[in-house]
Amino acid sequence: MTTYKHSIIIAIDGPAGSGKSTTARLVAERLGFIYVDTGAMYRAVTLAWLREGKPDIEVFLRNLPDISLSRDPQTHRQMTLLEGVDVTDQIRTSEVTEQVSYISSLKTVREKMVSLQRNIGTDHNVVMDGRDIGTAVFPKADLKVFMIADIQKRASRRLEEMKSKSKHHVPSLDELIQQMKERDTYDSSREIDPLKMADDAMLLDTSELTIEDQATIIIEKAKPIIIKHSHGA
Ligand code: DC
Repeated sequence: MTTYKHSIIIAIDGPAGSGKSTTARLVAERLGFIYVDTGAMYRAVTLAWLREGKPDIEVFLRNLPDISLSRDPQTHRQMTLLEGVDVTDQIRTSEVTEQVSYISSLKTVREKMVSLQRNIGTDHNVVMDGRDIGTAVFPKADLKVFMIADIQKRASRRLEEMKSKSKHHVPSLDELIQQMKERDTYDSSREIDPLKMADDAMLLDTSELTIEDQATIIIEKAKPIIIKHSHGA
């Protein structure tokens, strides 16, 4: 991986199914950056809470589980570890999806995850996707993109993603639209670091764009920034 004087941060935020993760992964791959899916971290905390039998939240927060990220040696894809054990597949179940907005709204959880995310961005050039990367995690990110798309498109994309990623029950399109609307409302209206476009973010409506289009747009925006960094700016 190319190293620069300071690490470069590309922040990609937006609601579920807006095309963030696939696009962010592709952009990272092409630029030789590390891709970080921050939603997976909140999902792993949620999985831990479910596995513990949904204990009282105050008790759970006193001793949050250990979450870390690794790379699959073959595919180089992100692996999400809970107490050192790979849970990349288990965090995609509908049980986790139903509870993740709640767990990720908790201050203690956010503080811990944001600190882990900042640590990753200190040492590496990253493309990080989430809800609050450009507003809270890296307010000084080199490039901020806020992706949106119409709900029908988002739900059908998420459905395809779920079918390919998950061995678990996959909901119907209508169920998914409903769930996504609820999750977006919850994520946008929570008190701490809600889903919100940063003032200096580029808005990208992906409704009519292919993944390839989206990646190209972001890479074109990133190129001058990378050149500037390589000259020590
Ligand atoms: O991207 P995703 O659907 O896997 O994210 C799961 C949930 O995690 C999402 O509903 C909101 C939360 N999340 C968050 O609060 N902040 C982030 N940076 C990423 C995800």
